[in-house]
Amino acid sequence: MTALRLGIAGLGTVGAGVLRTLEQNSAMITARCGRAIQVVAVSARDKNKARNFDIKNLQWVDDPLALAGMPNVDVVVELMGGDSPARQLVETGLRNGKAVITANKALIAGHGMMLTQLAEAKQVVFAFEAAVVGGIPVIKTIREALAANKISEIQGILNGTCNYILTQMRLRQMSFQAALQEAQTRGYAEADPLFDINGTDAAHKLAILAALAFGTQLDLNAVSAEGISGITPDDIIFAEELGFRIKLLSVARHHEYGLEQRVSPCLIPLLSPLASVENEYNAIQIQGDAIGHLMLVGRGAGAEATASAVLADIMDIAAGRHALPFNVAVSALQKCLPPAAEKSRSSFYLRLVVSDQPGVVADIATILRDHKISIESLLQRGRAMAAGVPVVITTHETMASAMQQAAAKIVKLPVVLEPPCVLRIENN
Ligand SMILES: NC(=O)c1ccc[n+]([C@@H]2O[C@H](COP(=O)([O-])OP(=O)(O)OC[C@H]3O[C@@H](n4cnc5c(N)ncnc54)[C@H](OP(=O)(O)O)[C@@H]3O)[C@@H](O)[C@H]2O)c1
Repeated sequence: MTALRLGIAGLGTVGAGVLRTLEQNSAMITARCGRAIQVVAVSARDKNKARNFDIKNLQWVDDPLALAGMPNVDVVVELMGGDSPARQLVETGLRNGKAVITANKALIAGHGMMLTQLAEAKQVVFAFEAAVVGGIPVIKTIREALAANKISEIQGILNGTCNYILTQMRLRQMSFQAALQEAQTRGYAEADPLFDINGTDAAHKLAILAALAFGTQLDLNAVSAEGISGITPDDIIFAEELGFRIKLLSVARHHEYGLEQRVSPCLIPLLSPLASVENEYNAIQIQGDAIGHLMLVGRGAGAEATASAVLADIMDIAAGRHALPFNVAVSALQKCLPPAAEKSRSSFYLRLVVSDQPGVVADIATILRDHKISIESLLQRGRAMAAGVPVVITTHETMASAMQQAAAKIVKLPVVLEPPCVLRIENN
């Protein structure tokens, strides 16, 4: 059988991982696909950049878009990231009837429906396993292995940078800034880490998983995202004292009244399996009616781990295995209906820094009572903070909107010295 011929755009972390793994495991990959996989052309920004692999036998094209028009390219592999020219390359490749593989979560989260429809119209493969938590095969698991399940919930730690930062803050009582700096030095965070730490990156991944798991149209606007920059080492200590660990948790949950999709720092029980997923590791917990609870854990990023997912997609094409990206045609996906605001309920952790004077707790309790929020526990310490003392309250389940309104009133009390930290407690 003739070889499957690839044109790869992007020779950075992931592109290099793909080339190296393909070379190292070439005989095994050929045997498993029943045909060879051959890279015929590559493109990146700088032809002369030093790379730790040899590209002299590969055709170099300056313009990555050219790959989509080359008659000797069967599969366009987009590993550049960003919007332009990645979007044009993927779109042109599909329009030209080529199979397209990408690891670009932002592209799929923003344009996944349009691109998938285009692939359907052209009857070509479009696959993006590596776009969601790199090396963990979660797309295949949901789409294929769990295809017979009605999925009711996905919970995950979908961003390794945040998980690394929160782990180091806990283990070494580091500040958020110091832990972020260390994550950057170790290569776990981008030079501009904004999308990691503000929850956007996890929201991209969650939107893709939710569409696949719940058969709904991918809608990034339906995902609420909140980051971890407001978490202090004290919050982490208080949470542990209360029997919880703080994680940036991504949750997609099916309710009869709508699909809840959110990314936010949450307290999760110390004994929950996700609590033990530390450092740069990612994890996804899936609840299906037939399988029950299933958890996948692994490396959500990194050259070889992500290459593993890219190559799995390529090998499917080589072996003639075709799956619809979202399991059903885009026209069969249901509209994504977010729950009404009043349906959003949770118990909460509220940490305040207040002046150390009598009556403070009573003032706070009055505001909570006025918003029908009942207190479950209260921790008040003479812990020496720079100014003021911390008060930590956990609540029974209440409306999220009531908690927000109460927090907005509490922050206006003259005795409250800083904006409160309000986190959901996720007991499920
Ligand atoms: N890194 C991970 O662990 C990981 C995990 C999962 C998914 N992803 C996704 O994989 C994709 C690639 O990520 P990466 O970490 O490999 O990125 P990267 O290391 O920054 O590499 C990007 C590559 O694309 C090339 N490139 C960028 N802009 C280009 C342009 N305008 N024209 C031509 N080439 C261009 C760069 O060329 P030069 O080399 O010449 O600069 C470089 O080779 C992204 O979508 C990312 O979200 C990454």
